[in-house]
Order: sequence, then structure tokens, then C-alpha cells
Amino acid sequence: MPDYPALAARVRSLTEGEDDAVALMATLACEVHHSDDRFDWTGFYRVTAPGMLKIGPYQGGHGCLVIPFSRGVCGAAARTGQVQLVPDVDAFPGHIACASTTRSELVIPVHNGAGQLLGVFDIDSDLPDAFTPEDAQALGAILDETFAGCASG
Ligand code: SME
Repeated sequence: MPDYPALAARVRSLTEGEDDAVALMATLACEVHHSDDRFDWTGFYRVTAPGMLKIGPYQGGHGCLVIPFSRGVCGAAARTGQVQLVPDVDAFPGHIACASTTRSELVIPVHNGAGQLLGVFDIDSDLPDAFTPEDAQALGAILDETFAGCASG
């Protein structure tokens, strides 16, 4: 489990005064990815049109470029506005496998301070049942703080 208070402090320091969403996403993807060996793919999908997600900054192997809200774990998070904590991706209807090694996944909707959906934050793990509600809560708090001042697309 990462030291989430230290991760939050590091992200806060690195992003102080920044409100560009892509710059913030790139920084967060890097810092979160390298904070825990469970995280094999870490990145963002951005809302680029109604009902459409497109890939943003990420760390790890190739990620698929476009995900409609109707598909995948990321689409479910964007469509419902709810965290998707998936212990077994093979049991998730419509899971999109960007890597055949992925076993579990955590996807968190990303909103700005006005409550507008900017995209989703996606972490894949090659370990089964790798994520906990504590991961979701701590990362959600870091995302909320980091993107509070961002304008929507
Ligand atoms: N697994 C995701 C797709 C993105 S790749 O994991 C980077 C999904 O089902 O939406």
C-alpha cells in the first residue's frame, strides 16, 4: 500500500498553481504508477465529446485510444459516476483488455471543483483482487484536490 499522505503531499507540491488538466494528469500518472508495484498500468481517459472517452497521459503498455461510455470498466465509471473496483476483470461484462496480463482494475471518475466530469483515472494490475476500498478513497481524495481548479474540456 502506498504511503498515501506522502503521495498526496508530493503531488500537491509538484502541481502547486497548475490548472492545466493534461499537465496534472501526466504528473499524477507518473507519481501514482511508481508508488506501488501492484500498479501495472496507470492513466487517464478524458471526456472529449458527449459519451466519449479518449486516452490521456499514462504509464505502462499501450492503452486503447477510444472508449465510449457504453463500453468497458472505464465507460461504466464515466456513465455511472461511480468508482469501479473490479477484483476479477474476466468477470466484468464488457471489460476491455488492453493487456492480456491484467487481472484486476480500479477506475475512478475525475471531476473538477464545479462537479464536471473531466474523465476517469484507470489503474490495472496483473495481480488478482489487487485493489481495496482504501485505495479508492485515498486516490479519490488526491484526484479531487488535484483537479478542483481545472476547466472542463
Ligand atoms: N480495461 C479498461 C480499458 C483501458 S485499458 O485497461 C488501459 C476498460 O475495460 O475500460
